[in-house]
Order: sequence, then C-alpha cells, then structure tokens
Amino acid sequence: MTLTETQIAPPLGGTLDARAISAWFGDHKVLDRVSLAMPAGKVTALIGPSGCGKSTFLRILNRMHELVPTASLAGEVLLDDRDLYSAERRVTDVRRQVGMVFQKPNPFPAMSIYDNVLAGLKLTGTRASRSARDGIVEETLTRAGLWKEVRDRLRSPGGALSGGQQQRLCIARSLAVRPRVLLMDEPCSALDPTSTRRIEETIAELAGEVTIVIVTHNMQQAARVSDLCAFFLAAHGTPGVIVEHGPTDVMFDAPRDERTNDYVNGRFG
Ligand SMILES: Nc1ncnc2c1ncn2[C@@H]1O[C@H](COP(=O)(O)OP(=O)(O)OP(=O)(O)O)[C@@H](O)[C@H]1O
Ligand SMILES: [Mg+2]
Repeated sequence: MTLTETQIAPPLGGTLDARAISAWFGDHKVLDRVSLAMPAGKVTALIGPSGCGKSTFLRILNRMHELVPTASLAGEVLLDDRDLYSAERRVTDVRRQVGMVFQKPNPFPAMSIYDNVLAGLKLTGTRASRSARDGIVEETLTRAGLWKEVRDRLRSPGGALSGGQQQRLCIARSLAVRPRVLLMDEPCSALDPTSTRRIEETIAELAGEVTIVIVTHNMQQAARVSDLCAFFLAAHGTPGVIVEHGPTDVMFDAPRDERTNDYVNGRFG
C-alpha cells in the first residue's frame, strides 16, 4: 500500500458485528454468547460494573485477547461481513483497521511528538515522503484536537505533554494508520475534567468518520458521547452477558430492564 492510495480514499468507519462471543481465561468463563452490532460511524458505549468483561470484549474486537497465553474464545467478529478471526486474516492487518486507545496514555515518552504520531505507520511498514509525513502529522493531530497546542513544538518529547495531551497524542497515533474502528478503554479515567471534555469533543468530531467503541464507568460521559449503549453484567460469578442494548437515550430514559435502570441511575456498580 502506498500513502497516496490511502489519502485518495480515506476509508469510512466499518461495521463491527460480534456474534455469540464467549471468552475464557483458562477454564474461567468470563463472557457468555455476547452479540452486539456496532454500526459504521456510530459511537457505541460499553457500560457495566467492574469485572463484567467489558475490556475482554473490547480486546476481542481487535484480536488482543489472544495475546494472553491462557485466553480462548468462541464466536465470530465480522468487520463489514468479513470475520476478523478467519485463517487468511493477518493479525497486523486487523489491528491496523481496528485501533485501540488505552486507559493510561502510553506515548513513547522520549520520542518526539512528530515521531509518536508516525510510530504506527513505521510498524505497518508504510512508506511516505517527508511532505506526506508532515501532512499526516498535521492532519491527524488536527483530527485528534491537539494540533494548535503542539504545532510549535513537534520535536519535543511526547512525555513532556500533559496527561490529556498525551491521550490525544495517542488518539492521533491511532488515527495515523487510518483505522476503520477505534476502540477506547476508559480513555478519560486518568484525566482531569477539562482534558476529559477535550477528549469527548474529539470523539464527537471523529464520529461519522470512524466507528468508535468506548468503555466508560462515567454514565454522564456515556450519555454525552454515545449513540448506542450496551449494558454488561456478570451476576454472582457467572460469565458476563449483555443485559440490554439500544439507542443511548432509550437506555437512559426508558430502559426495558430494571437492572439497566438501576445501573444507569447509579444504584449499583
Ligand atoms: N489476563 C487475565 N487473566 C485472567 N483473568 C482475567 C484477565 N483479564 C481479565 N480477567 C478476568 O476476566 C473477567 C473480566 O475482566 P475485564 O477486565 O474484562 O472486566 P471489565 O468489565 O473491563 O472490568 P473493569 O471495569 O474493572 O475494567 C474478570 O473476572 C477478570 O478477573
Ligand atoms: Mg476494563
């Protein structure tokens, strides 16, 4: 792949469809036949109490679950109707198309802001001219809502940024490889309220272009940023399931299940 091709046709967000996903660590089953469609260009929030399998589910969506030696799974995950787990699919290709932003910002601290943005491209072996690289750095930092704050110090180390800026740098790094889906596991939980707002604005700006799946414990955040919401629950040591999912306003204002109602109103978890 050359860069010009990807620039001419920036792919829009892809549709992710998880079907009957079960997951284990050793013989401990942590998810039981979880199915969820995550539509293209929409923001889907995964909510639920600690330990119910949200992160595990998220990591299954870009094949990071298999990095744990004891981990196994059943079911399938389709990205635009093609199974991420089919034999001919390369893991590196899956992880390029389905990017991940973690709870704790993890830029390469000694590497410059500029090189941090391009780090993913180097890993995928994409070649680019100097001017194309400059273009990607500006474009992705702009999309991540960080360009204005760092354009005069692109050669400073990534570790010199604030926590919120580092998280936006990580978002830019993920976007630079032009993913179709961006997974975010509690991306704001280590951030102050102002940085959190800034990340939420970034999510709103990316919606439509990239499919976003975000795990959050912050119900206000789920209500603000997501179009759709899925409520996970693992009752009394049983594997996690989705109790209810649907449009976010319905989940918050008129859920069908009493447990959803209790959870979104902060009555447990
Ligand atoms: N690497 C691992 N090895 C063994 N068990 C694990 C591992 N990661 C998670 N688990 C177990 O899987 C279950 C689901 O964990 P997971 O991290 O997916 O929950 P979560 O909903 O993301 O929780 P939290 O809200 O606290 O982040 C838990 O019982 C947890 O102990
Ligand atoms: Mg988690």
